[in-house]
Amino acid sequence: MKNDLLLKALSGKPAERPPVWMMRQAGRYLPQYMKLREQYGFFERCQTPELACEITLQPVDIIGVDAAILFSDILVVPQAMGLEVQLIESKGPFLPDPIRTEADLQRLFIPDVHEKLQYVFDAIQLIKKELNDRVPLIGFAGAPWTILCYMVQGKGSKTFDEAKAFCYTQPQLAHQLLQMITNTTIAYLEGQVEAGADVIQIFDSWGGLLGPADFEAISLKYIRQIVNALKDKVPVIIFAKGAWHALESMAATGAQGLGIDWCITPQMARSLAGNKVTLQGNFDPAKLLSPVPVIKKEVKEMLFAFGSERHIVNLGHGILPNVPVDHARAFVDTVKEWRNSGSNNAHFD
Ligand code: CP3
Repeated sequence: MKNDLLLKALSGKPAERPPVWMMRQAGRYLPQYMKLREQYGFFERCQTPELACEITLQPVDIIGVDAAILFSDILVVPQAMGLEVQLIESKGPFLPDPIRTEADLQRLFIPDVHEKLQYVFDAIQLIKKELNDRVPLIGFAGAPWTILCYMVQGKGSKTFDEAKAFCYTQPQLAHQLLQMITNTTIAYLEGQVEAGADVIQIFDSWGGLLGPADFEAISLKYIRQIVNALKDKVPVIIFAKGAWHALESMAATGAQGLGIDWCITPQMARSLAGNKVTLQGNFDPAKLLSPVPVIKKEVKEMLFAFGSERHIVNLGHGILPNVPVDHARAFVDTVKEWRNSGSNNAHFD
């Protein structure tokens, strides 16, 4: 691997600087992506390995990030389990027949991932070939709780109240569904690793909607199964947005990386997570709308706050669609100007 900064950071090896990539970097804000978006439907882009490959490589070529992330979506998993998922322009995901009852659950199945999701594995193989070991490739899936949110609510939501009501009023069905998603996700991620993914990230975008006890029972219990299945084969990053209270128990899963959002300081996160895990984050994505000098200054402050060890520079959630390309580049370039020279003595060139 020509640029193995991400792999070094995840294994705790010293390096000249931390790696940098941005969640949701493939798509959204890049004009080159918007052009493809006019020509092909969203799932068509996901299901066509050549298109998924082109979109995955765009931020590597245009912005110069230290890792590629597969272009796909977390919602291909409910699709593979038998649920219809649509993506409606400017509205987001829509599932016309959400899961609410035992009869609904009967419609679902644990798929053979090589039958239903082979297009993802084909895309990964093509991307690995085109990347030619320039940077590592990150594969991903949604955490079972976040997938349940969409399967039950049927669309995006600020509160996912229907999904919570399902868990609180029909716990047995909810756990049955969470276990089905977990089994599917383990097979799916194992397939991604076999196809060539170098790192796996688990997105629990809605983990922060659950209180600590519910997060443990409804979300982390299943994430732990996924981490257990993968962590000895490939480095795993858990990103559970807003679930800072669980950093200690997430570190105890053995995952090599933990994502944090901007509502916690790096110092607090480090004291909760301990020293055996790599932290990833945590720039407020909306701050990329600031003028470039402000971005540069705040990125430097973030780098100092994390210190030079076991850090992957990233945003605290996905990049926003209205971020100017030169602002994204300023974020990445500021990190590239940084040099680690001993643990507490980092500086800029
Ligand atoms: O990181 C990457 O760039 C890789 C590709 C990726 C997409 N979705 C492509 C996409 C990844 C990692 C995801 C994950 C995802 N999808 C999450 C977890 C991360 C997060 O941001 O919290 C969630 C919750 C989803 C579900 C989803 N898919 C939503 C809510 C939406 C609509 C709004 C949006 O843009 O987030 C999507 C569609 C989607 N997935 C787009 C892209 C590039 C936008 C489609 C388009 O307008 O072209």
